[in-house]
Amino acid sequence: MSNARVVLVTGGMGGLGEVISTKMSAAGYRVAVTYSPGNTKHAEWVADMKARGHDILAVPCDVADLESCTKAVAEVREKVGEVDVLVNNAGITRDMTFKKMDKVNWDAVLRTNLDSLFNMSKQVVDGMTERGWGRVINVSSVNGSKGAFGQTNYSAAKSGVHGFTKALALEVAKKNVTVNTISPGYIGTKMVMAIPKEVLDSKILPQIPLGRLGKPEEVAGLIIYLASEEAAFVTGANIAINGGQHMQ
Ligand code: CAA
Repeated sequence: MSNARVVLVTGGMGGLGEVISTKMSAAGYRVAVTYSPGNTKHAEWVADMKARGHDILAVPCDVADLESCTKAVAEVREKVGEVDVLVNNAGITRDMTFKKMDKVNWDAVLRTNLDSLFNMSKQVVDGMTERGWGRVINVSSVNGSKGAFGQTNYSAAKSGVHGFTKALALEVAKKNVTVNTISPGYIGTKMVMAIPKEVLDSKILPQIPLGRLGKPEEVAGLIIYLASEEAAFVTGANIAINGGQHMQ
């Protein structure tokens, strides 16, 4: 095993995740990703990444389930090493107006987008504090700060993400472990492309001063910075990356 730091990206085969994991691999990290157990394309993805020069371990994991996270991280530890950088990136939407929102779609989003932070961080944070170095990077959303039509579940979960970040950041700061939130706006991924085109064109794009969707590479660049030595003094922050859509 090399001395390079180990990064684990949840949802690492998804729209943002794939770009984060390959950019981190290109930056010299040893990379592991989780994919959801229903994903049938994982072997193909790993082979494709290998062909592109990225040796990435992929482990199945339901981030909403504590036991599944325990098992997944044990496999990463055994095959790649102790996790130095955790990127809690996995997330889902189940958009509907509150009138139509049922408990199933509320629970699915809260469990996957918020409980996952407990489930995954629990596996790695003690190791980081014992070794005296670590980075936890939680992917929230502009909609956690500003709210969004059709997203009571998603906005609640993403807002909760930053509360988790701030509390954990306080607890581990003395051990050189930083915990930060990034809040992307609308990035050109499958998740955003699922928004009805008329809604995207009439309601969302006009709100973005830069006049375009963000690029996954732009988000990955911010994550690479937060994982770096240079970012050692940044903790408990919530960094917006939204084209000016929402300023705090
Ligand atoms: N703001 C204001 N009004 C809106 C609106 C919006 N964003 N979206 C829809 N409406 C209005 C519609 O114009 C419509 O009004 P009228 O009845 O007066 O015509 C009314 O609400 C009902 O709209 P729909 O017919 O679309 O209702 P629906 O029940 O079929 O769908 C919805 C509602 C599921 C919320 C759908 O509009 C939708 O998917 N909206 C997009 C939600 C969104 O932005 N999701 C973000 C996903 S990306 C993401 O989450 C990544 C990230 O972190 C940024």
